[in-house]
Amino acid sequence: MTSVDWVAGKVRFIDQTKLPDQEVYVETTEYRRVGDAIRKLEIRGAPAIGVAAAFAVVLAVRQSHVSSPSAIEKELTRVVGELSATRPTAVNLFACLSRMRASFARLHNAESDLIREGLLQEALAIQREDAEACRIIGEYGATLLSAGSSILTHCNTGALATAGQGTAQSVITTAAKLKKIARVYVDETRPLFQGARLTSWELLKEGIDLTLITDSTAGLVMQQKKVDAVIVGADRIAANGDAANKVGTYPLAILAERHGVPFYIAAPTSTIDRATPSGAAITIEERDPSEVTHVRGIRIAAEGVKVFAPAFDITPAALITAIVTERGILKQPYNVSIAGLAVREGGNHA
Ligand code: MRU
Repeated sequence: MTSVDWVAGKVRFIDQTKLPDQEVYVETTEYRRVGDAIRKLEIRGAPAIGVAAAFAVVLAVRQSHVSSPSAIEKELTRVVGELSATRPTAVNLFACLSRMRASFARLHNAESDLIREGLLQEALAIQREDAEACRIIGEYGATLLSAGSSILTHCNTGALATAGQGTAQSVITTAAKLKKIARVYVDETRPLFQGARLTSWELLKEGIDLTLITDSTAGLVMQQKKVDAVIVGADRIAANGDAANKVGTYPLAILAERHGVPFYIAAPTSTIDRATPSGAAITIEERDPSEVTHVRGIRIAAEGVKVFAPAFDITPAALITAIVTERGILKQPYNVSIAGLAVREGGNHA
């Protein structure tokens, strides 16, 4: 299953809002349809959002009939601006859009067909690199687990959320193949139930022993010593290691510390934002109140109630035991280990 793909000149994606009841694939040549899909969480998960946005840029540049490099650039700037406004927290969106712009900058003297083809190749490279990162994250992450481990996870970090086999979920499925996983507790993940709807659907297909719990049950299962490690993904990791992830992650990290359970984040380095010094500088997306007051269109809250609906929270670096990336396992102090990634790149990033 591929969450988002480029097929014969169209973007093809699975509509995640319809899962697990219906497996509906959408094909479109309209970049705005892809932007809408990101906004509505038909396409979701930080890496998948980035890949989809890159493909949306390709669609937009193909849709426009302009041919001079300066007109293409103008169109690109407009479209990147539109796509940047879809969701604010996952840095992969902005990183992938920057890559598309940089790719254009390298091509801007070329013929328009070559520019269009070059942009497509860049988007496909982003997709390929994410799939490869997922695979390697799984391998590194599995080394952290011992045989018979019981894992707790939150939200959805699987194939649906990425271009490959997932991030935290890749660790789980890779470790399962090595017979290291006894069971997985899956938080339902209010308000949109990514755990109940998506992670349980994916893990059942993998034949992994999973137990669905409400988010508020996490404390009890840790107190009862039923969890050996918590593994989650991230939407943005600041330069000091503070990590934004689906709301409800931060309380899990506190519970994990209280109960002596390691708390791991698994994310590609494209989720690390060295330009953001700490979690305090990360914009937390607020969603429509109806996502809290309603469940699949049915109102469950009293009419007129006031709602606070953040999509993410920030886990302070101090609560994170390790960050598993495709370039290795980062340890505390994260400001040093994250800066070390730039040094190894030979770059001088912010
Ligand atoms: O609002 P969502 O469903 O896009 O939130 C997704 C998450 O919080 C994931 O944990 C994160 O993107 C990591 S996915 C590999």
